[in-house]
Amino acid sequence: MKILLTGGAGYIASHTCIELVKSGHTPIIVDNFYNSQKEAISRVEELCGQSIPFYEIDVCDKEAMSVIFKEHTIDAIIHFAGYKAVGESVAKPLAYYKNNIDSTISVCELMKENGVTKIVFSSSATVYGLAEKVPLKEDMPTGGCTNPYGWTKYMIEQILTDFANANKEMNVVLLRYFNPVGAHESGRIGEDPVGIPNNLMPYICQVAVGKLKQLAIFGDDYPTPDGTGVRDYIHVVDLALGHVAACEFDCKGVEVINLGTGVGYSVLDMVKAFEEANGIKINYTIAPRRPGDIATCYSDATKAKKLLHWEAKHTLVDMCKDSWNWQKNNPKGYNK
Ligand code: UFG
Repeated sequence: MKILLTGGAGYIASHTCIELVKSGHTPIIVDNFYNSQKEAISRVEELCGQSIPFYEIDVCDKEAMSVIFKEHTIDAIIHFAGYKAVGESVAKPLAYYKNNIDSTISVCELMKENGVTKIVFSSSATVYGLAEKVPLKEDMPTGGCTNPYGWTKYMIEQILTDFANANKEMNVVLLRYFNPVGAHESGRIGEDPVGIPNNLMPYICQVAVGKLKQLAIFGDDYPTPDGTGVRDYIHVVDLALGHVAACEFDCKGVEVINLGTGVGYSVLDMVKAFEEANGIKINYTIAPRRPGDIATCYSDATKAKKLLHWEAKHTLVDMCKDSWNWQKNNPKGYNK
């Protein structure tokens, strides 16, 4: 299949690009490099041993985007593009609603105009909001998001569902990601956050490499086994393979699918696992809870197994080793 990856130079998309090529598909990348690096595409090409067509276009710019559809017959779109920083979304809600929703509507219109009938969307476990119980299952209620970023994911799920309901030929797979970590085993591509990382694993890695002094663990008084927050960390290559399976899945209408491991680890579990896997001590301190955080979040991963014949294979040790391998080989990210 010829598959267009919006936001294709990003962390999850770059790994997906490689797995698509390995599975015999032809990816095409569109990205405006707002929050990603051109170098990521060069490295994907190096790892794939082939060039990947790419367009430097803002996905909201429908007219510019239409060129891609003139030059290629696209079979499916994976819509990764979007702003994704939780804290920033609280400070700049309008920018988040405008960019994330406009880009999605632009993609839907282009699908209709060009006869593309399949879209896979990067949603997030954040749409479950303050769920009453775990594991999180696809049919549980959504909403009650704690920030505008989360609401954009919630709203886009709704937009794509309405789009498919009104256009029976459209097939929509909404992938709800849990916590992606790790990197390609080569250490050539990985997560390259702008500024000080918000997420746990890149923060641990930057403490390990000496860029940051100390990890602050946000709260040790949650109702969890050791008091620190519990999450479902998933290796980015497993996540990438989930996208390949979603593209190949013969979807009818709309399907919502969690991509997680089904297992939760605490912040302290993650610190210990990183230390043991890599033989490095992580300097940490216990800090107050971070506003908006929940105690526990992990997936019920059975639907993905049943429908996509996919399940996460990488272990926690793989996640810690591959994250560190990327960080130590690229201490300054892509801009060496
Ligand atoms: N944490 C720390 N210190 C840090 C960073 C994180 O203790 O410096 C803790 C958090 O409190 C939480 C856990 O590590 O308990 C994971 O935090 P992350 O920021 O890595 O991930 P979140 O689960 O908060 O957020 C992730 C994605 C969001 C998504 C959300 C819900 O980053 O995009 O999952 O799906 F919205």
